[in-house]
Amino acid sequence: MSVRFDGQVAIVTGAGNGLGKSHALALAARGAKVVVNDLGGARDGSGASSEAAQEVVREIEANGGEAIAHGANVAKYDEVQDMVQQAMDKWGRVDILINNAGILRDKTFAKMELADFQLVMDVHVMGSVNCTKAVWEIMRAQNYGRIVMTTSSSGMYGNFGQSNYGAAKMAVLGFMNTLVLEGAKYDIRVNALSPTAGTRMTEDLMPPEILEMLTPEAVTAGALTLCHKDAPNRFILCAGAGGYASTRLFETAGTFIPADEQSPEAVIENWDKICDQGAQAELASGAGQTEKFLTMAMAHTETA
Ligand code: NAI
Repeated sequence: MSVRFDGQVAIVTGAGNGLGKSHALALAARGAKVVVNDLGGARDGSGASSEAAQEVVREIEANGGEAIAHGANVAKYDEVQDMVQQAMDKWGRVDILINNAGILRDKTFAKMELADFQLVMDVHVMGSVNCTKAVWEIMRAQNYGRIVMTTSSSGMYGNFGQSNYGAAKMAVLGFMNTLVLEGAKYDIRVNALSPTAGTRMTEDLMPPEILEMLTPEAVTAGALTLCHKDAPNRFILCAGAGGYASTRLFETAGTFIPADEQSPEAVIENWDKICDQGAQAELASGAGQTEKFLTMAMAHTETA
């Protein structure tokens, strides 16, 4: 099976460098028309320049592809709307959105200024929300859309010094879970990518020989599987150095404690049953958990 994007329009945020650049080049090489978005700031989000995005556009055009650059700050909805409008004016549709733009403001939580927490949330969370909001009606109206969130192992599992970044990266998964439910009717599929790659974001964290193994292209292969025609839905794909895995959220079957026995002592006494992974399952929506507990309660009432 060959993965192609002919006739499709893709927006890749933060595509002036690193992973976004690699995603944009690969999408264009496989037929997509690409909006190369980048604010062009430093790794901590300071500054701005249109040069990085324009350079990627030149590279796509030199390879025979079609692309436009846009310097929208994803944290600013009016700038994002302008970017989406430019794509619509030029190509009349938006099929793919890869929410990739990101910054770091690492510090232990004890030393972190709230402003550093807020800015990281603004770029990763509100950036993904703004871009998704600006394409959502377009995708609904055309009955087609593929959206990729960029999460991180730092959010899913934690990482010292990244409470802000971790919170933001986990938030986009919560955002994805509801979009999946609301977009299903319109063939809008929303997935998440958890990358590990040698980019300027990680360049001072690992030695050069390790960074060389962590190519952006290995991650991009995963990103493209999450936004093509036959993409999965609500999938968290982890990718790095040629390794690919999936992260999933499961809930144990749990146990029931009747009203007259509900107490912290009873919860502690039942801990093994609560944690028993024997019949754990992935829930299709939040309502699934309420239904499970009500079913237990009703079964108890019937047998009482
Ligand atoms: P990078 O720093 O090379 O690229 C990020 C790009 O986003 C930059 O070109 C930057 O100018 C742009 N950007 C930042 N703020 C922006 C804004 N407000 N509006 C528009 N563009 C903005 O970093 P990298 O590694 O390519 O990161 C891409 C994504 O992957 C990020 O979301 C990052 O958090 C995520 N990620 C990367 C990992 C890695 O190992 N490199 C690990 C886990 C997640």
